[in-house]
Amino acid sequence: MSIYILGIESSCDDTSAAVIKDRKILANLVANQHVHKDFGGVVPELASRAHQQNIIPVISNALSKANIKKNEIHAVAYTNGPGLLGSLLVGTSFAKGFAMAMGIPLITVNHMHAHILAHFIEDESQSKSPPFPFLCLTVSGGHTQIVLVSGYHDMKVIGQTIDDAAGEAFDKAAKIMGLPYPGGPLIDRYARDGDSLAFTFPHPKVPGLDYSFSGLKTSILYFLRDRLKKDPDFIKRNMSDLAASIQHNIIEILMKQLRRAAVETGIRHIAIAGGVSANSGLRKAFEKEKEEGNWEVYIPKFEYCTDNAAMIAVAGYFKYLNKDFSSQRTAPFTRYPG
Ligand code: KG4
Ligand code: ZN
Repeated sequence: MSIYILGIESSCDDTSAAVIKDRKILANLVANQHVHKDFGGVVPELASRAHQQNIIPVISNALSKANIKKNEIHAVAYTNGPGLLGSLLVGTSFAKGFAMAMGIPLITVNHMHAHILAHFIEDESQSKSPPFPFLCLTVSGGHTQIVLVSGYHDMKVIGQTIDDAAGEAFDKAAKIMGLPYPGGPLIDRYARDGDSLAFTFPHPKVPGLDYSFSGLKTSILYFLRDRLKKDPDFIKRNMSDLAASIQHNIIEILMKQLRRAAVETGIRHIAIAGGVSANSGLRKAFEKEKEEGNWEVYIPKFEYCTDNAAMIAVAGYFKYLNKDFSSQRTAPFTRYPG
C-alpha cells in the first residue's frame, strides 16, 4: 500500500506544503515572503504574519496539485524546529489541527535532519541517494554543520560553526555591499562574472572540524570602509570581483574542514544540503573533488536545497515507517538539536 504524507515547513520565511506518495513528490509548493527584502534579514513578526496568511492557500493548492483528497492523507509531518518560534507555531498549529480533525498521526521533523534527508526524495532528475555512512555538509542561513549520517535517524554533528553560519556570512557580506536580503543568491549571480582572486580575506583559525565566519564579515567591513574612503564608487565598480572573492573565501573555508573530516573519518561519500548548497561555486568545488577521484559526491536538485516541504514530508515518511509519531502536547523548539 502506498503512503501519502502531507509535509509542512514554516521554520523561517518560506511557507511550504508538499504531498508525497512514499518517497515520490506529487506536489511541493513554496510561498516566499518578500516583506523582508529591505530589512537586511528576516523580521520575525512579519514572518509569522505572512505564514498565517499563506498557510491555508499553500496547503490547499498542494492538495489540488497532487490531486489528493484530505481523507487520503495517512499522516501530517511538520517542522517543529529549529527556527523562529512565531513561524514554527503557525505550521505546528495547523498540523495539530489537521491531524486531530482527520484522525491521523502527527509527525514532528527536525528541519536540519530534513535538509539531509532531501537526498532520499525519489526524483529521476536527482542524483542517486548516498549510502550510509556518509558525511553531509549542511549549510543554511542559521546553521553550518558537518554531520556523520549513519542512518535515516542516526545523525551526529562532528563539526559546526562557533559563530555565524555560512548563509549568514553570504547575507551579511551582501548587506555590507548594499544588496537586499537574502544576499546569498545575488553574490552567487555577481560572482559568475568576477575574478575570485581579485581580493583576499584572511581565513579563520579554528581547531578541529568547527567553523567560524564572523571574522570574515569584520574584515570585509574594514576593507570596504578603507576603499570607499578613497573611491566612493568602489563597490559599484568592483561588484563582480568582490562577490567572486567573498564567495571563493567562504567556499575555501567550508571545503578545508570538510576535507579534514573526510580524512579523519575515512568516509568518501560526501553530500551537501541546505540553502547554501544551491551556490554554484560550492557545487563546482564538489564536482571537482569527484573529478579528481577523491570523493563520491551527492548534490541535491536546486529546489530541494533551500527550504521546502518535500524534504519535511520525506523525513516524515521514514518516521512513519517506524511508527515514530508525536503527541498533541508537543511544542516547537528554536535551537538545534532541540
Ligand atoms: O536552508 P535555507 O533555505 O533556510 C534556512 O534553513 O536557513 O537557507 C537560506 C540561506 C540564506 O542565507 C541564503 O542566502 C542562502 O541560503 N543561499 C545561498 C544561495 N541560495 C540560498 N547562498 C549562496 N548562494 C546561493 N545560490
Ligand atoms: Zn533550511
